[in-house]
Amino acid sequence: MSLIGNLEDFPDNSAHGIQAGALALLVVRRAGELFIYENNCPHTRETLDPEGGSLAVSGGLLIQCQRHAAEFIADTGECVAGPCQGEALSPIPFTLSGGDIYLD
Ligand code: FES
Repeated sequence: MSLIGNLEDFPDNSAHGIQAGALALLVVRRAGELFIYENNCPHTRETLDPEGGSLAVSGGLLIQCQRHAAEFIADTGECVAGPCQGEALSPIPFTLSGGDIYLD
């Protein structure tokens, strides 16, 4: 397992891209819960955040790709609007221990 950060590094209702070795990840906090996805838009297979910053919109309910505005449900990764509607972000398994976040 590899440590990628701590819950305190990621504010609630936010979605930030991080790099973990060769893996580009999206770390999503929504209503206190944590979700991690590959930072790889199903539309073009590019990262969702070329401009950086949080991708959370609608109060954290949705994640919005900065390239062509596809929207994904934060806690499932399902694309509900935009060019990849019906597809989904790929979830990444992780373990929380004392607030530390480890990839499985
Ligand atoms: S690359 Fe994400 S919507 Fe086009």
